[in-house]
Amino acid sequence: MAEHRKQILEAVSFLRDRIKTTPAVGILTGTGLQNAASSILPEFSIGYGDIPHFPVSTVEGHPGILTSGKISGRPVIVMKGRFHLYEGFSPTEVVFPVRVLQELGVKTLVISNAAGGLNHEFSPGDIMVISDHINLTGVNPLAGPNENDWGIRFPDMTRVYDKKLSTLAEKAGEQEKIPIKKGVYVGLRGPSLETPAETRFLRIIKADAVGFSTVCEAIAGVHAGMKIIGFSIITNINDPENPVPVTLEEVLEIAEKSALKVDTIIQRIVEDIDATGQDRHTDR
Ligand code: HPA
Repeated sequence: MAEHRKQILEAVSFLRDRIKTTPAVGILTGTGLQNAASSILPEFSIGYGDIPHFPVSTVEGHPGILTSGKISGRPVIVMKGRFHLYEGFSPTEVVFPVRVLQELGVKTLVISNAAGGLNHEFSPGDIMVISDHINLTGVNPLAGPNENDWGIRFPDMTRVYDKKLSTLAEKAGEQEKIPIKKGVYVGLRGPSLETPAETRFLRIIKADAVGFSTVCEAIAGVHAGMKIIGFSIITNINDPENPVPVTLEEVLEIAEKSALKVDTIIQRIVEDIDATGQDRHTDR
């Protein structure tokens, strides 16, 4: 067994002793989005640093706390704080939380991130449900020997983001009067932001939002057989003809403002999740 799998199993065994129920849903919150799952009724919380082998995030807006509890009466795990390639983490470390969730029995993965808007029709503060992604990070978390117990060698990527979950999000948005956009997320390695020429390129390849996370976790989630929904909060608009520098303060401020709207949508999705079926491999 690969060393990193052993480490994950040790982290999972530590968590199983403390988390009594099998979580149905795992939620990964992005930059400035630590309140995106604040409706959780917490039962157990722990800092990443206190879980064996768990990486610890180094960026502002990523507190590094795992909480288990209930949302809409269903057992969930919320991980506040992500690991990014730009921090120097390996793709295997970036997807450590997804593997822990997989081993804990999670079948539905909710990912949120802060992203730059590329689509002309988007504005700061918009919530985009990810319909598909383009992986331009240059790496893949499945490279290397395949862990057959986790998933197959060549996982299909024709539908990474679950259609039923995104329909649930759109319906919840209508009912709660929270406008929901849809679009393609392109993941880069970062941390340098895009040049105007790169932004032009990303628009040409039909990406609607750009960021430095999510694609590795989503790929591992598909490999794990999870149903996935991704939310991008558009914190700034990248216009190559009128380039304006993006600051972390601005990204955090806009993301924090939209977090509670994402929380409302997540609550509604978790409420309805059984209606979507649980097993990606038998329900596509
Ligand atoms: N580019 C990359 N990542 C981001 C951006 C951006 O413009 N805004 C928020 N995260």
